[in-house]
Amino acid sequence: MSEPSRNIRSRRSNLAVPGSSPKMLEKAKGLPADQVFMDIEDAVAPLAKPDARKNIVAALNEGGYDGKVRSVRVNDWTTQWTYADVIEVVSGAGANLDCIMLPKVQGPEQIKALDMLLTQIEKSEGLEVGRIGIEAQIENAMGLTKVDEIAAASPRVETIIFGPADFMASINMKSLVVGEQPPGYDVGDAYHYILMRILMAARAYDKQAIDGPYLQIKDTEGYMRVAGRSAALGFDGKWVLHPDQIAAANEVFSPRQEDYDHAELILDAYEWYTSAAGGARGAAMLGDEMIDEASRKMALVIAGKGRAAGMQRTESFTPPES
Ligand code: GLV
Ligand code: MG
Repeated sequence: MSEPSRNIRSRRSNLAVPGSSPKMLEKAKGLPADQVFMDIEDAVAPLAKPDARKNIVAALNEGGYDGKVRSVRVNDWTTQWTYADVIEVVSGAGANLDCIMLPKVQGPEQIKALDMLLTQIEKSEGLEVGRIGIEAQIENAMGLTKVDEIAAASPRVETIIFGPADFMASINMKSLVVGEQPPGYDVGDAYHYILMRILMAARAYDKQAIDGPYLQIKDTEGYMRVAGRSAALGFDGKWVLHPDQIAAANEVFSPRQEDYDHAELILDAYEWYTSAAGGARGAAMLGDEMIDEASRKMALVIAGKGRAAGMQRTESFTPPES
């Protein structure tokens, strides 16, 4: 079966799995997350990183992540580990891997460096050049100021990801609770600018926008509330740190069934009305609603998310009797 194309991969739930835990790498296979990312960065202690690389290569080559996007988070370019993370993982399991996630990205040159390294490994290993994507985590002020250039730095870039914990530290935000408003800020959402900035860069360059972790893993209601905000803005998905957060993410980032049905209906109706049989019209009535080219574009977004999530429509369009 051919791989889904970059832009239609479903990434509602992005499950973080520490590469240091073969048990959790194994367990992730059976969980209903859209994406699994195997970590060699902040969830893995320095002394455990060499083993984490090996565990990840073994897990990817053993397989079992069918239907999931498989990503590996390497260490950022300011450390001594990045090159070895990439070389070991991609040489060892490049054919069974979809993306490399690069944390704490500070500028387009860091994406270009990863792109070049990936190209060399793909060539030397006989892998398809350019197939492995890049996920760019924005986790500090410098990264956010350069997010447009980062999104445009390589066709490999698939997602722009908000890393709230590191970001809060980077800007000296007076709070330790990721996702919740900092005490004393009582005039709106303290994360709104950051989320919108990331979303604009992602949409301008046709990438997916992904929200980061919510650390209160027992508080599913809190997760739903925070996820609901980024989903409402237009984000494509959010990290999950615990199996209990998966169903919440899949729900919040899927269109509602009625919206999905309606979007498919608009697409079919508009196709018919713009055809010769339907009168070659640019604007038409669907029930009480006027639809036009802009309605088609909005419907495409909802339908695209629903299709990527495997939703089935429950209504079909019947052209009116003439
Ligand atoms: C994730 O990496 C974060 O820093 O929030
Ligand atoms: Mg981080």
